[in-house]
Order: sequence, then structure tokens, then C-alpha cells
Amino acid sequence: MVQSKSPRATLAFWLGSRSASAHADPGFLSRLGFRFEAIAELALRLYGPRLDDRDAFMLRIADLLAEAHASRPAELRSADAEREARIALGGSPWYLEPGLAVYMAYLDRFAGDFRGLKERLPHLERLGVRLLHLMPFFPAPEGNNDGGYAVSDYLGVHPGLGEVSDLVETAAELHRRGMYLAADFVLNHCSDEHPWALAAKRGDGRHRAFFHIFPDRSEPDRYERSMPEVFPETAPGNFTWVPEAGGWVMTVFHRFQWDLDWSNPEVFVEMLRAMLVLANRGIDLLRLDAVPYLWKRVGTECRNLDEAHDIVRLLKACADVAAPGLAFLAEAIVQPSEIVRYLDSGGRGECQLAYHASLMVLLWDALATGKTTVLSRSFGEETRLAPGTGWISYARCHDDIGLGYDEEKILRAGFTPRAHRRFLLDFYSGRYPGSFARGRLFMEDPRTGDARISGTCASLCGLEKAIEEGDEAAAALAVARICLLHGLAASLTGLPLVYSGDELGLTNDFSWQDDPALADDNRWMHRPRVGAEVLARASVEGTVESQVMSSIARFLRLRKDIPSFAPDAPFEVLHSPDERVVLCVRGSRTGGAVRPVLVAGNFSAEPLSVSFQALPSRIGSPARDLLDPDLSPRRPYAAPGDGHIELGPYGLAWIELLGDARLDDS
Ligand code: GLC
Repeated sequence: MVQSKSPRATLAFWLGSRSASAHADPGFLSRLGFRFEAIAELALRLYGPRLDDRDAFMLRIADLLAEAHASRPAELRSADAEREARIALGGSPWYLEPGLAVYMAYLDRFAGDFRGLKERLPHLERLGVRLLHLMPFFPAPEGNNDGGYAVSDYLGVHPGLGEVSDLVETAAELHRRGMYLAADFVLNHCSDEHPWALAAKRGDGRHRAFFHIFPDRSEPDRYERSMPEVFPETAPGNFTWVPEAGGWVMTVFHRFQWDLDWSNPEVFVEMLRAMLVLANRGIDLLRLDAVPYLWKRVGTECRNLDEAHDIVRLLKACADVAAPGLAFLAEAIVQPSEIVRYLDSGGRGECQLAYHASLMVLLWDALATGKTTVLSRSFGEETRLAPGTGWISYARCHDDIGLGYDEEKILRAGFTPRAHRRFLLDFYSGRYPGSFARGRLFMEDPRTGDARISGTCASLCGLEKAIEEGDEAAAALAVARICLLHGLAASLTGLPLVYSGDELGLTNDFSWQDDPALADDNRWMHRPRVGAEVLARASVEGTVESQVMSSIARFLRLRKDIPSFAPDAPFEVLHSPDERVVLCVRGSRTGGAVRPVLVAGNFSAEPLSVSFQALPSRIGSPARDLLDPDLSPRRPYAAPGDGHIELGPYGLAWIELLGDARLDDS
């Protein structure tokens, strides 16, 4: 091994020896100088033992960053500079802009392809979302490719969706409209048809080392002792025998998704290169798919290991040098206490956003039980975040709902964890007597009795059943439930996310059952197509589509002008005098001019009235309900102190309070 220089000496050598450095932009050089030590520390901690020449490795990283920055288009560089300046002037980072909301869609199901997307942008503008997350649009194998999450080329675009130039043009068009683009960075695994996997199958040693391939079962068996399974029903085990590769390949997700071996520095370099290319195409936010799984170690669950965090920090530090406007979103659907570890706490530079998977589960819990006990007790415990980071709050996404919360919380709320889980599974699969939901169990594991839940927001909220039974009153309640969940996601914390089709109240789509490529994955029931007819119905007053669309659009429009609903504004969950109601006050860290807002949500089909007297006096007196259609001042709270919050069935209120509620969420 070559003795390594200090990072400073390596950087000085790089500056002196590379002609690129002479032409580099001064901003780039100062960011490189500022971050190089941290980059070297992380890189050498992760890869030092496997490197023959550590200095050469660091020089390669510096070269890659310089090349990427040199080819970064001028518009993106100026956007970077603007974003940096805003933060320097004390403003919020772009991804925490007040009013920002996310829309998540499969490009083909939402718009056909990149060209069709242009025609859908007015719909997004009407809805009031400005950050568009397009799920994987990369080349992927024909047939089952896990909705594109088996990537065959990180740098290409799936031929059915368009070309690279369409992606670049889409990003530019979104930027022109003041919008942002998010894309997946599927970094834990690639498809078994990726050129790296094909080369590994041909016996190419360099590429075999990109994956975890074992000649016999001895190592896989050792791993299996502690590794849980992601898809126990359709892809049991974590390894697949691949005859062409002459070995057992680690495939934690599907058999056709080969886990990359991130302990190999060559994998890091190739993925860093891909990440920088994506950033230079105009992507503002990368969703780090399955990020907890990046590092594997025998004897562990192979999830949430410290090295996975180091990899994210290293990638982020590199992005901060070459594409400083780029932000990361953690897709970490793990225990609540683990999710927060992926956020950028203590300035260690990890992800800036994370899905609030715990809040999502708690909302569904409250809807099934009609009680907010678990929600009110648990929401808020792990949710206090460092400045500069935020949650994405949502009701549904393209994945199943996993009931991943701490048993302790269920116990404290007075439920038995096992029975409670069973109840939720029965409820949402429609088996529980009186259930309004029409979902299905996903990945039922007969050994553990565990399962997750599939179904669209509307079907889980009762719309499918109500329509089938021609029950208008039940349909109205279902619509109210959909709106309650979205209204809470828009007001409790973070940035709200609307999952494609939910804004139109789309019910389950059963066409997946007839497609052999999709038939063994019932998550496709909640991935409906958004056709032109459905969009047209959204403009016809009185239709379900228009009711849901206009309510969600209204929430998103109103919240933009409510400073207490800034994505990173603090919140405090209050004790609710009625267990069917959740009460949460949003305020600011500094108090002052920011008026606090009380969010109240009724999880029952009864109209309810909650007395203000039950609320702590320090939160201020009620002024007006911001959701009241005529917004008449002080109605119905003419006499602060003895007023009531009136909530309709599954009703929601945003009550502006007079007074200074400084919330300390540190
Ligand atoms: C993520 C995606 C999911 C996919 C998995 C494997 O969890 O959200 O849809 O199956 O990663 O890539």
C-alpha cells in the first residue's frame, strides 16, 4: 500500500498537477477546499483498507468532481448560486420553501411519457404542487421490473418514455415554471440486465466484485440467520442461484435486482459518476431508494448500518462540491427512531428530507380505530428535526403500508400489539365486520402472521365500497376521510406529498391481475392510470374527482400563506379532551409576528364539538377557522375562552390563534 499524504497535501498536489484546476470556477474550488478533508475522512474510513493507493483514489474523486462541475450547465450553476445565497442570507433552503408541496407519479401512468407530461403540468399547477417526483424512468428489463426499480442503465431513459434530451427539457420546463424535479437514485441494487451484471455473468472479475456473489451456500446461510426478508411471499430469501454467474447472488428485493457491493470502492466511483450526471440533467432532489440497505455485514440485519450513513454523507459532500443545489430524500421505511438518523443532524450532511412513514401509519391507525390515542401519543416523539431538514408528510404512496411502529407505543395506548396489528390488517383488507376499507394484504407471511396493506387511498377510505353499494352517504364520508388525511398531511409537519391519482379519489385498479408481469405484486392495485377522462371529470362540479381535487388544492393553496405551516415550523401535539380528535398546534421557534395555528381533526363519523377550555391557555385564544369558507373574522369564536371547535364528520379545522405561541422543539 502506498503511504497516503494528508488530505491537504493531496489537494495541493491535485491543484498543482491538474490543468482542469486552473480553469475551474472559484466557487467550485472553494467548496472543494472546504469539503475535501471531510470527503477524504469518509472515503478512507469506508474504503481505506481496500485501497492499494489511497492518494490515487482521492485524486480520482477530485477529478470526477471537477469534470462534473465543468460540464454543469450554466443555468444550473446559477440556480446553485442562488440557492446558496438564499441560505447565506438566512432564508430557507429551496426544499423547505413555505408552501412547497410534492406530487409523486409513475411517468407512464400519469402522463404516458415525457412529452405527454407537458400537457399534465397545468393539472399540477391547479393542484398547487411544485416539486414533481417522477419514479424511475431509466431503462429496465421487459416484463416485471418492479415498476422501474430494476435499473439497467443509470444514465439512460427508458425508450418507451423518451430520450435523455426529453428528461433535460422536462427539468428545464419545470424550472421555468418555478417547479422542481425529483428522481430516484436506485442505489442499493441494479437490474440483472445492467451491463455490470451481464459482465459478471460472463465471468468478468472486476464486475463480479460489484455484487455479492458466493460459490456455495456457506456465506449466504450465515447472512440469512439475521437478515429479514423484504418480499417473503414472492421472493423469499436474500440470495438467488444464478447458473450463468455460477453462484448465489445477493438479491434482497426481487431475484432480478442484484444488490451492489458498496464496500467495493469501484462501485462507489461508478455510482458517484451516475449521481453527478443525473444532477447535471437538472434533477433537484434525489430520492435515495432503499437507503438503509446499502451496507451488509454477516450477523446483522444488514439494514441501517453505520457505513450506510457514511456512504450517504460521502455522496452528499461530493454533491455539495459539484452540484450544490442538489438535495437528498431518504427512502428509509424503517423503525421511526432509525428514520431520523438519515436526516442531516448536527451538520453531518446526510439527507435533507425523509418520508414521515411513522405519521403515515399513525394516520391509518387512527382512521381504522376511530381513536387518535396512538397518533397523539406517538406523533412528535421522533419528529423533532435539526434546522435545514424536513419531513415529507403523506397518506399514500406507490408502496404498501407497513405497520412499522414501536410496540411500546401500542401498549401505552392500551392495545395489545399483536391483536392490534391483526385488527388493522383485517380492517384494511375489508374482513373486519363493519369495515369500510377495500384493500388487500401484501406479502402475508404465514410463519409470522405479518403482512402489509395494499390499496388506493380512496379504496382504503371507503369510496370503492360506497360506490359499489350505491351508497351516497357512505361516499360522502369516504371523501371526507380522504380530505382529512390530506389536510392533516398538509398541516401537521413538513412538506405534503400527493400521490398520483389520490387527488382525484381514484379507487383500486384491478387490471394488474391480467398482466403476467405484474400479477404477483398487488401493489399495482394502487398504481392507477390517470387518464384524460378522469381529469376531465375533475372539472365537472359535484363529481368525486372534483370534490377531492378542489379540497386538496384548497389545503395546498391556503397553507402557502400560513407562516406556521412552513415545512420546518415546530409543532406540539396537545392532549385532546376527546379521543376521536387530534389536536396539534403549529407555531414558530421565535414566536413574534407568526400567529400559531391549531390543527384539529375528527377521526369519527360523528359531528363533534371540542371545548377550547380544555386547551392550555398559553397557546392563545382562537381567532378564526382558516378553513371556514367565508373566513368571517372571529366566527364562531366570538367569546374567546368559552368557544368550541365544531368539527363535521371526519372534519378538519385550522384555527388561527391570537397570542404568541412560541414552540420550542429543540
Ligand atoms: C423502494 C421502492 C419500492 C421498490 C423497492 C426496491 O422501497 O419504493 O417500490 O420495490 O425500493 O427498489
